[in-house]
Amino acid sequence: MRVTVSRKAHFNAAHRLYRKEWSDKKNNSVFGKCSNPHFHGHNYELIVHVTGTVDPKTGYVIDMKILKDLIKSQVEDKMDHKNLNEEVPEFIEMIPTAENIAIVIFNNLKPHLNPNHSLEVTLYETPRNFVRYSG
Ligand code: NI
Repeated sequence: MRVTVSRKAHFNAAHRLYRKEWSDKKNNSVFGKCSNPHFHGHNYELIVHVTGTVDPKTGYVIDMKILKDLIKSQVEDKMDHKNLNEEVPEFIEMIPTAENIAIVIFNNLKPHLNPNHSLEVTLYETPRNFVRYSG
């Protein structure tokens, strides 16, 4: 029997969505307020879902303490209170949209999990806008 366990976390980060080669006008028409040249912040809400079989000895799919520490080291320490464009290496070349942030979070967490476990990441950029990525 496979069960999904989920843990919530959050981080605050600044970003700007733009392409260097586009004019401010073009960036504004594509990315709207998120292309503000002075950057702006979001309160990102993250839910990490891990699906796997229940270990008969522990009754756990994954020890929540391990998941909590992994989210701290792989997500919060790297992104919380950062300027994503300038301080997170993955976003020097990649636009830090919610989609791409979810992919980076997934890729940072996945190697640390049991390969038999499935991972899904849900990332809220605002209370109404969220993305899901599961590889
Ligand atoms: Ni934004």
